[in-house]
Amino acid sequence: MEDLRIAVIGLGLRRNLATAAHRPGRGSVVAAVADLDPQIRAKVPELYEGAVAVDDYRRLLEDPSIDAVIVATPDDTHEAIACEALEAGKPVYVEKPLGISVEQCDTILRTAYKTGTRLYVGHNMRHMGVVRLMRDIIARGEIGEPKTVWVRHFVSYGGDYYFKDWHADRTRTTGLLLQKAAHDLDVVHWLAGGYTKRVNALGDLMVYGDLPRREPDTPRPEGWLKEFDWPPTERHDLHHVVDVEDVSVMNMQLDNGVIAAYQQCHFSPDYFRNYTVIGTEGRLENFGDSPGDEVRVWNTGPSGYRKDADIVYRVPEATGSHGGADERIIGEFCRFAREGGVTDTSPVAARMSVAAGALATRSLREGGVPYDVPELEPELLAYFDGGQLPREAGE
Ligand SMILES: NC(=O)c1ccc[n+]([C@@H]2O[C@H](COP(=O)([O-])OP(=O)(O)OC[C@H]3O[C@@H](n4cnc5c(N)ncnc54)[C@H](O)[C@@H]3O)[C@@H](O)[C@H]2O)c1
Repeated sequence: MEDLRIAVIGLGLRRNLATAAHRPGRGSVVAAVADLDPQIRAKVPELYEGAVAVDDYRRLLEDPSIDAVIVATPDDTHEAIACEALEAGKPVYVEKPLGISVEQCDTILRTAYKTGTRLYVGHNMRHMGVVRLMRDIIARGEIGEPKTVWVRHFVSYGGDYYFKDWHADRTRTTGLLLQKAAHDLDVVHWLAGGYTKRVNALGDLMVYGDLPRREPDTPRPEGWLKEFDWPPTERHDLHHVVDVEDVSVMNMQLDNGVIAAYQQCHFSPDYFRNYTVIGTEGRLENFGDSPGDEVRVWNTGPSGYRKDADIVYRVPEATGSHGGADERIIGEFCRFAREGGVTDTSPVAARMSVAAGALATRSLREGGVPYDVPELEPELLAYFDGGQLPREAGE
């Protein structure tokens, strides 16, 4: 089997995904990179042997030697680039979030439907060991039927990763309840077996609104990714626009009746995602989210708090970035690009997580009023649920 020749569009901080895709002789290679930044383009030959680097991604979409495309540019550019790639007939992997509004997501889904080109969305958390472990526990019925899911998300590097570049500008992301939360909202949906139909939220910009900012078009200072300031109020050199929230809490009602909550803070000392799922016959909670960490299950009771729980599972060992999830998701994408078929990630689910985050953001900016998630067109739902199979002419 020849290696799938992949073009990567956008080789910024999310570069580990491209690195996971470069496995000469083992299924796929990064054959080309498009990036607007000449310094990044200059590094391409040493990063991926034999790869070409261009500034205009359209050149790669026209190149018949390219088999598939990964879009890893900032979120607000996904719609335009993904649609052009689909129109060009190149199977496309779009990094999460799929877009920054429901309308953008629906345009991408409709373009995939119309062109018949395979669309894949990179929700790599579905390939993380801790998430799969929690899902397996629920699927085995160890906590009964899941009824409520609560997620607390502590983002220790928030001030550095999300308030020093485009992430901090709501015109580029909508907000961090969409940008950062899209992964976890997708996992909430996956664990609970439903999609959000109604949301409300509260949030505010509490710490990073008043800290020193950089002038527009000035680069981040050298070493910004190695030296982190503490406490968070010591951070400086923030993006020139900072108008997204650094604390937000949202409530969700899912279409299967499950009630869920998600909370995010960008100035906590430690980085951690803490999930609790309570079902009709038990509760699970994760203690850490890396290989070797634990998911504990309590399914006898009632009792006082028991630290030792009834069953303790360990997150499986794995090597690679994001606990091996990037390598696994690239493997799934390559198989899908070649053969099609069912995948663990889903474009519809990606749209639903954006929808929940976008409407929650609207809610928190309007005093917490609830919003209903608009339904996806039935023909798109059927097409993607059916595995993106070729349609008959005229269908
Ligand atoms: N799944 C994950 O775990 C995960 C983690 C981080 C980021 N992301 C997502 O990955 C994407 C990229 O994030 P990042 O942190 O690498 O951003 P970044 O700003 O570090 O990098 C983006 C790169 O895209 C390039 N670019 C922008 N517009 C372009 C265009 N029109 N043509 C070609 N190149 C262009 C920029 O020059 C830059 O090098 C975002 O959608 C982000 O949300 C996903």
